[in-house]
Amino acid sequence: MLTFKNVAFSYPSQPIFADLNLNIENGEFSFLIGKSGTGKSTLIQLVYMNYMPDAGEVTVAGYNSRTIKRKELPYLRRRLGIIFQDFKLLNNRNVYDNLAFVLNVTGISQKEVKKKVSDVLTDVGLYHRRFSMPGSLSGGEKQRIAIARAVINDPVLVLADEPTGNLDPETADEIIEILKKINSRGTTILIATHNYEIVKKNPAKIYKLEDGKALVAVTKQK
Ligand SMILES: Nc1ncnc2c1ncn2[C@@H]1O[C@H](COP(=O)(O)OP(=O)(O)OP(=O)(O)O)[C@@H](O)[C@H]1O
Ligand SMILES: [Mg+2]
Repeated sequence: MLTFKNVAFSYPSQPIFADLNLNIENGEFSFLIGKSGTGKSTLIQLVYMNYMPDAGEVTVAGYNSRTIKRKELPYLRRRLGIIFQDFKLLNNRNVYDNLAFVLNVTGISQKEVKKKVSDVLTDVGLYHRRFSMPGSLSGGEKQRIAIARAVINDPVLVLADEPTGNLDPETADEIIEILKKINSRGTTILIATHNYEIVKKNPAKIYKLEDGKALVAVTKQK
């Protein structure tokens, strides 16, 4: 489903990965951990091909970083759901329009849009806020909307980069519970985080980046 094979990647200012290997199976719920600066966010961006490897290859959702064409990038990204620490909602559109916006590019009927938006909002418990503006929502509510937006196109893989970074511990737990529920329906989930409380509490596969160069530990927690 997602593999990194001998991936090397450097920013102009510094090398990040030298020979990175990773293999995430369909249906996995996993955490990507590692100290600040080890490259978690960089790895996530290599998955959605915001960056391309300098050597080696990334394969995800049937696309390969070596062979994908620029015009195919939007199709790859439509197969992925991406969640950020700072939510990245469109602040000048209400909740409904934030979600419908993602669907409208796929050319489906308005009736179907309405059904899908209602379904994902119900899933995250915020159907009653569908006409609210993002500015009137709490951080936890904003993140639930961002999750709804991430899953509305039925992605095969959800990537979350510090999804709980701006939230209090209790709200963070709620966000993880929602991601687990999505995972239980078959969606693969990868969460980059340095929130070790959350990692300790939740059984998951763990990938650890060390010194930014290698994924050294793959452990299973119970
Ligand atoms: N666009 C960029 N250009 C140059 N260097 C960058 C860029 N983005 C990140 N870096 C550097 O690359 C290294 C890895 O950054 P990255 O953001 O991937 O780490 P991270 O593990 O996500 O850290 P954090 O836990 O703080 O989010 C850091 O030293 C960072 O300063
Ligand atoms: Mg980061």
